[in-house]
Amino acid sequence: MNFRNRWVLVTGASSGLGRELARDLAIRHKANVVVVARRLGRLEELAAQLRQEAGVEVLPLAADLSIESEVENLFAQATDGRDIYGVVLNAGVTHFGEQTNLEWSRFKTMLATNVTSLVHLVHLFLPYLISKQQEGGIMLVSSLASLVPVPFQSAYSGTKGFVTNFGQGLWHETRDQPISVTTFVPGGISTEMVDSSGLSKYFKSDGPGMMAADVCAQKAVDGFAARKYICVPGAMNRLALFMSSFLPRKTLSGMLGSEYRKALAALRADDPS
Ligand SMILES: NC(=O)c1ccc[n+]([C@@H]2O[C@H](COP(=O)([O-])OP(=O)(O)OC[C@H]3O[C@@H](n4cnc5c(N)ncnc54)[C@H](OP(=O)(O)O)[C@@H]3O)[C@@H](O)[C@H]2O)c1
Repeated sequence: MNFRNRWVLVTGASSGLGRELARDLAIRHKANVVVVARRLGRLEELAAQLRQEAGVEVLPLAADLSIESEVENLFAQATDGRDIYGVVLNAGVTHFGEQTNLEWSRFKTMLATNVTSLVHLVHLFLPYLISKQQEGGIMLVSSLASLVPVPFQSAYSGTKGFVTNFGQGLWHETRDQPISVTTFVPGGISTEMVDSSGLSKYFKSDGPGMMAADVCAQKAVDGFAARKYICVPGAMNRLALFMSSFLPRKTLSGMLGSEYRKALAALRADDPS
């Protein structure tokens, strides 16, 4: 794929990986970008930077993807008068802690953001992209947590399991089309998601298994451009995945669970509230 002078839409672009994906697409690939999230102020700041640094067009669009009507509006606004070539579905939220501490309303928001809106946007953009009979595509941002069940992020891990299965199925469904669907499967990334869950106190940003968001974004865009079936960034993550193929899922999940149990205990020792 060649993103130059093409429009690429990125969800979750107000922070973390999504912001860096938009920056990489604009600065390195000279793509015009539609940047989407709830925090419009941050999107406008990013838009001003990218117009100046990369000389590309940027359209900031505020949307709460957990609300169905806002997903429909987003598609209508993004496609109004512009040809969308690429779609990066990156927005996501997590819950770190016991499942019993996840309120039902927050679970519904997680499901709506990580799963329902993603399927809804694919439902809208996939026929749109196929109908053009030109190259282009969709990238779904999943997680290594989709491949091994992660205790204390059980619901999140379940939503990402959906994303990986969905994306890989779609890659096959569209293999005879000029467009493609790539599933991006990163490990830990130093972002607000890790900070706000408290995990950054335990998993240091420069520690093993953690990746800087800008480095991760470059690898994601390279994998998207190459129309990969699945893209796992970083030698450490690929090695961990390879080694994990020799261990039973239950053992692996138990090992992760022990680490997260320790992280939770450390977090609660620091802040008993
Ligand atoms: N960080 C990691 O270790 C890690 C590892 C593997 C996979 N991932 C995946 O990478 C993706 C990006 O996460 P991140 O780490 O960059 O987290 P982040 O910094 O917290 O960014 C999440 C983005 O999603 C947006 N978002 C959340 N809820 C939304 C909603 N209802 N409507 C619209 N936008 C919404 C947020 O924007 P607003 O708040 O402005 O709406 C923000 O831009 C996620 O899918 C995550 O699951 C992260």
